Amino acid sequence: MANKKAAVQDVVTPWEVTATSASGIDYDTLLKGKHYADCEKINDELIERIEDITGKPAHHFLRRGIVISHSMMNDILDLYQAGKPFYLYTGRGPSSESLHLGHLVPFQFTKWLQDTFDVPLVIQLTDDEKYLRKGISTPEEAVKLSRQNAKDIIAFGFDEKKTFIFSNFEYMCPPFYKNICRIEKLVTNGEVMNKFGIGKRDSIGKTSFPAIQAAPSFCSSFPEIFCGSKDIACLIPCALDQHIFFQVTREVAPFIIGKKPALIHATFLPALNGAKTKMSASDKNSAIFLTDREHEIEKKIQEVKVNDRVSSGMGPVYGKRENLESDISYQLAKFFFEDEMEWNEIKQDYETRRLSAMELKERLIIVLKKTVRKIQEERENVTDDIVTKFMSPRPLIYKYKNVM
Ligand code: TRP
Repeated sequence: MANKKAAVQDVVTPWEVTATSASGIDYDTLLKGKHYADCEKINDELIERIEDITGKPAHHFLRRGIVISHSMMNDILDLYQAGKPFYLYTGRGPSSESLHLGHLVPFQFTKWLQDTFDVPLVIQLTDDEKYLRKGISTPEEAVKLSRQNAKDIIAFGFDEKKTFIFSNFEYMCPPFYKNICRIEKLVTNGEVMNKFGIGKRDSIGKTSFPAIQAAPSFCSSFPEIFCGSKDIACLIPCALDQHIFFQVTREVAPFIIGKKPALIHATFLPALNGAKTKMSASDKNSAIFLTDREHEIEKKIQEVKVNDRVSSGMGPVYGKRENLESDISYQLAKFFFEDEMEWNEIKQDYETRRLSAMELKERLIIVLKKTVRKIQEERENVTDDIVTKFMSPRPLIYKYKNVM
């Protein structure tokens, strides 16, 4: 019975994303699920409000529904309008694999939030969780990966004066650990096992980890960074699969000194070999890596399946193109053609078949090569000293006038 049920439902957990349909995750159904009860879809009104109060155009991920939902984003905008501070919190599970285009999505959006709202950002590297879950043999090895991964993240162009990147293993200071324990005391084994799919045979480390991902949602975990402030609101940009961590966090927040964190969620970048799964480092054919050479990018895009109905000897196919959700080149174009006019033109021409699948791929290859090249060049410039600066606990530059 259980298997039957699993087969008809999309699976979205922090460790697995699998859709039942070739058009990918059914986000509307997902957001109606019980774990997302405290989330809302982003609508035009919210996007207009963001544009109005920041005076800047909304990021294309917002306009195209790639950043799809939120919790309490209006509260954050109220604070911003009132000149009160908030900070951003996001993270990455450091692994030996290089980043791929799928990782780029939440980080690009986070960078836009930092630039647009001019706010501090903390980035958690969960080397402890990687050590607990993956075949990494020692904590020391996991810390090394954190520093390597920090280089990739810095290459996205975060502002050094406003960004603190930390390894859980290295940063674990008393206030952070006290918040972790406050959370641990409020969450039961049963709840974690159920919500995170942890079994009796899993280690106790896995059961307690959610409290470690939750604690940075409270600014009191970072005394040096926020100069001892205890009440700065937190906004977490993340992919939808991470929401479960923060649903638990939001439940316990009222019992801890701290506000419920607000969230803003991104959808998943589909895998090159089909939208049933997201781009993933463990399936090499599914992803374009930020270390890929130009010819590899070109080859991978050329090999993406074209899901056009082919004319069966009865002349060309007319009419609007269908099933664009499962059309991977089109989906990638939606994520990576930043310019609104260019994207609108491509979208229209492709839908009406003025642009062929081959032509779309050629244009996509140009954009992806450019995107990857830019990050590769930036990464070359990230020295060990720069990593040390980003990872040193220090006050982040911010206007704290309304909190202290
Ligand atoms: N669990 C995330 C991953 O494995 C990393 C992470 C930690 C994170 N804290 C976060 C992601 C906050 C988004 C927001 O990739």
